[in-house]
Amino acid sequence: MSENKVVVITGCATGLGRETALKLAEQGYRLVLVDFNEDAGNDTLATVIEKGAEAIFVTADVSKEEDVQNYVNEAVKKFGTIDLFVNNAGIMVPMRLLHEYNMDEYNRLMGVNLQGAFLGLKYVIPVMLENGGGHIVNTVSSNSFKPTAFNGLYSASKHALAALTKSIGQDYQEMNIRAVGVAPNTMNTTIGVNPSSHLTEERFAKLIASTGPNIAAEPEEIADVIIFALTTGATMLNGTTVNCAGGQIFQ
Ligand SMILES: NC(=O)c1ccc[n+]([C@@H]2O[C@H](COP(=O)([O-])OP(=O)(O)OC[C@H]3O[C@@H](n4cnc5c(N)ncnc54)[C@H](O)[C@@H]3O)[C@@H](O)[C@H]2O)c1
Repeated sequence: MSENKVVVITGCATGLGRETALKLAEQGYRLVLVDFNEDAGNDTLATVIEKGAEAIFVTADVSKEEDVQNYVNEAVKKFGTIDLFVNNAGIMVPMRLLHEYNMDEYNRLMGVNLQGAFLGLKYVIPVMLENGGGHIVNTVSSNSFKPTAFNGLYSASKHALAALTKSIGQDYQEMNIRAVGVAPNTMNTTIGVNPSSHLTEERFAKLIASTGPNIAAEPEEIADVIIFALTTGATMLNGTTVNCAGGQIFQ
């Protein structure tokens, strides 16, 4: 039962964030949808409203502190509090060997996947503390366990987010805040299309070999895991990362 709980979802415009929003809308949650893609974000908003949800969309680049403060402020202004947080926005950059990355790629990747996720936690958690607690899902990756080929920076960002998840589990137990990392392996969204399009045939083959054996997920299937971790009494998952590779072992 949603009991009208308020959920903030970053990266709601496409892929996993959008599918999670659609499912939560059907279950009666109140939604604060966040993305820097204004057109697609507004499309998600229109779709959840059609499903009967009370919702707002806030345009934000999650890597910018003032944008994060703003989406948290807008959530509180509209709904009074934040009960649940899906810290999901993420990007990939062109896949390379470590020494081939340039600093712009490093800063963009870490800016969204690590700084953006950290800023979300930094500003959402105080609202939850005032509210007497809350539940968080950080979208991590099987790259939080084992890097796929030519994906070292992305993997580092997702290892770090899994570490922040562990820290929440350890540090906030008595404050009634819990966090779970949800780790898809390959998921059928467009996030990886451009980052891998420049790879030579030989490198692409190595990339594919490093993701296998592989059972690709639909984003709807991973959304079910997010909703389980977020909304049920899954207390004992606190601080852990859930491997969502459909039967393949990553740990
Ligand atoms: N698709 C996969 O194979 C896969 C596997 C493991 C983990 N993940 C993770 O799942 C999450 C969702 O990705 P997805 O596969 O649905 O891809 P996606 O590209 O469809 O979704 C990512 C969303 O984040 C938004 N976003 C990106 N940068 C942003 C920024 N600076 N500010 C605000 N919003 C921003 C995008 O506009 C998009 O709506 C990401 O954290 C990704 O790293 C994906």
